[in-house]
Amino acid sequence: MDSVSFLKDMYGKFGCSAPNLHCVLGSGLSDALEKAKLSDQWSEIGEIAFKEIPNFSSATVEGHPGKYRIFKNKKGFVVSLQLGRLHGYEGLEPAKVAQSVTQICAAGTKKFLLTNAAGGLNKNYHPGSLMIIDDHINFTGRNPLVGPNPKDSKGKALGPRFPDLSAVYDKKTSALLEKVLQKSFDVHHGTYVGVLGPSFETPAEVKLFSSWGMGAVGMSTVWEAIALKHRGAEVTGLSFISNYGCGLVDSSALDHNDVLNQGKQSAEKLINSLFSFFEELI
Ligand code: HPA
Repeated sequence: MDSVSFLKDMYGKFGCSAPNLHCVLGSGLSDALEKAKLSDQWSEIGEIAFKEIPNFSSATVEGHPGKYRIFKNKKGFVVSLQLGRLHGYEGLEPAKVAQSVTQICAAGTKKFLLTNAAGGLNKNYHPGSLMIIDDHINFTGRNPLVGPNPKDSKGKALGPRFPDLSAVYDKKTSALLEKVLQKSFDVHHGTYVGVLGPSFETPAEVKLFSSWGMGAVGMSTVWEAIALKHRGAEVTGLSFISNYGCGLVDSSALDHNDVLNQGKQSAEKLINSLFSFFEELI
C-alpha cells in the first residue's frame, strides 16, 4: 500500500474523511501539545506515527516523535496536527522533507498552517513574540520540485512545471490568524528566510538579512510551502520568535537549548490560541 492510500484508510478507521486543516507544529510546540488542556469542544480521534506509514518510514525526525494527531471538533471540523518535522540539515532531499505535508495534501487536505521557531531579524521582534509569514526567501539553494515534475497515480502532473509563487501565503487566513493571536501575543508580519542549517547564522549573515528588511530566519518551512503551493494547496505560515538572530542585539553565542526553552515558556499558550484559530475557521 502507498502512503496516501494508507492515510485515507486510517482516516476511515478514525471515522473521518481528510482533515479540513493540517498544522505543522514547530520546535517546542509538539511537547506543549501533550501538556495543553484543550477546550471540551475538541477530542482526539486518532494518531498515526511516521514509522507506520509506507514509503515514509525511513524518514528520521531529530529529537521529535514524528506523528500526526487528529482532533475533531463537536461541529465535525477535523484538524491534523503534525508533531515533529523533517529538516534538510539531517541530509534529506527537499522532496522527502516536504513529504510529511505533501502526502497529507495528496490524501485530501487542502488547507495548511506551517509553524516554526525562528530567530528574529528585527530588534522589535522580541523573543516570545510571533511573526505571521507574509512571504519567504528560500536561501537554502535547493528546491523540492527539482527533478521530474511530480505526477499523481494516473500520470497527471500535480502542478505546473514552473509554479507561480507570487502569493504563497494566504492573506485572508493570515488575517484571521492574526486576529486570534493578537489576543495573547505580540504579533508582527514579515518575510521568513529559510536556510539549510544546521549551523546558526553568523552575525554578518544576520546583519545582511536584517538590512534587507527580513523578519525572521529559520531552518524549515520554505520547502514545505513551495511543494504545497505547487499542488494548489492553501498555505499560512507562522514563526515563533525564540531568539534574536545571532549578533542582532548583543554578541552572546546562540545555544539550541536556549532556543527550545524560550519556546516552552509560551508554547502552551500558543497551542490554545491555535485551537481558538481552528474554531474561527469552522
Ligand atoms: N536561526 C536559524 N534557525 C533558528 C533560529 C535562528 O536564530 N532560532 C530558531 N531556529
